[in-house]
Amino acid sequence: MKRRDFIKTSMLGLSGLGLSGLGLSACGGGGMMGSIDLQPSLNTGVFTRPFFTPPEALSSISGITGNKVFDLSMQTGKKQFTGQGTTATMGINGQFLAPTLRMTKGETVDLNVFNALGQETTLHWHGMRVPSNMDGGPHQTISPNSIWKASYPVIQRASTNWYHPHAHGSTGSQVYAGLAGMLIVDDAESLALDLPKTYGTDDFPVIVQDRDMQADGTFRYSLSHMERMQGKKGNTILVNGVLDSVLDVQAKEVRLRLLNGSNSRIYNFALSGSTPFKLIATEQGLLAAPVPLTSITMSPGERAEIVVDLTALQGSSLSLLDLNTGMQLMQLKVNQAATAVTTTPSVLSTTLAPLTAAQSVKTRPFILSMGQGKVYINNKQMAMTRIDEAFTLNAIEILDIQNTSNMDHNFHIHGAYFQILSRNGAAPKAYETGLKDTVYLPANAKVQVIIQFTDHTAAATAPYMYHCHILEHEDAGMMGQLTVA
Ligand code: C2O
Ligand code: CU
Ligand code: CU
Repeated sequence: MKRRDFIKTSMLGLSGLGLSGLGLSACGGGGMMGSIDLQPSLNTGVFTRPFFTPPEALSSISGITGNKVFDLSMQTGKKQFTGQGTTATMGINGQFLAPTLRMTKGETVDLNVFNALGQETTLHWHGMRVPSNMDGGPHQTISPNSIWKASYPVIQRASTNWYHPHAHGSTGSQVYAGLAGMLIVDDAESLALDLPKTYGTDDFPVIVQDRDMQADGTFRYSLSHMERMQGKKGNTILVNGVLDSVLDVQAKEVRLRLLNGSNSRIYNFALSGSTPFKLIATEQGLLAAPVPLTSITMSPGERAEIVVDLTALQGSSLSLLDLNTGMQLMQLKVNQAATAVTTTPSVLSTTLAPLTAAQSVKTRPFILSMGQGKVYINNKQMAMTRIDEAFTLNAIEILDIQNTSNMDHNFHIHGAYFQILSRNGAAPKAYETGLKDTVYLPANAKVQVIIQFTDHTAAATAPYMYHCHILEHEDAGMMGQLTVA
């Protein structure tokens, strides 16, 4: 697709898609709200750069505790994304993004996090069920030039998670600069299945992020009032930090671990030619059975593991698309014979025990709203010194989450996972029946989820967070704090 067509598609899309296109409709000509950059996309639809698989992070085993130890350095850098120029970036143990952390259920990990950013930060393990003082939320700040030592047991099932900063008010800018990485948990149940699981061969992280990229190759993260309200959206979409990349793959089943790591853009991912795929896992691990799909919508922070069967496609290419913009994000080039095949089983997990509404002892409302140029949850804005919700350990509750605004939001909670009971009053579609920690709420949507904090208590000195994962909203206060006792 040509640049001009992308803009056109996006503009056309606005009528049907609310504000999820380029985010241009609300202010039209700009004027008082400040101008939106109309730089054309730098995605060309021609795939010239090699796909980048983030390396797995090096670890060592502590001779004293037997814990698995990771050393992480959060640093500034610069990187060239286009044919021209470099841009200032941030990365972990590198210039942009971060190595993939790999953990196994049952082990304890120590993470030594050094802050070389020259500004305060934190490092949050999104999706990990860890003690609240190890969570890396806004209370676990890391001052410049100091080390934060996190340590926790890995108690959860196999899942695709991620890690990113969470400093109150600067999460958006720091993630945008490049501070994000994948965190994959393995367990015996998932390793025993005949799924693609050879990292970098048939099992790939796919971190999708849009950037407002200037013709000179620099990122722009200055926020107009409108961008604060709608979330920062960029003209150019990167996969694992690479523009227009091509992945050479074998003619076999391939597993893509999709992460919407964007600040605010909502994608509807598909493969060219409506190629079918199987959804095998959402945020908190394997589904009971694969769900056949041809597209999947993902809001920021959500993860989805999909398996695409390329067995019959040797010699051809397909691309990963975003149907919301019509853009091609990367290409899969099936140019190698399979060295070993897999056959995704029809049953993935027999250990899921869904909670039912009848078990709930309480229904807790969460109203996502906007007004007077502000964003709210339950009519409040985040205050570091106020606890908003007190949960009881092991109590089963329904969260009644309602977006009363005309704009997209989502809802993420730390310290526990949830299951969707209903979306707009109807039972969830099969692809939303798995365990989740982040859920998309388009304009005026209402979602009920069921949740149980089973793992850790959380004191008022180290509360867990819940928030909209549109990072500009989170930074603007669309977040609250909870305790578990
Ligand atoms: Cu991905 Cu509270 O964050
Ligand atoms: Cu999180
Ligand atoms: Cu929001």
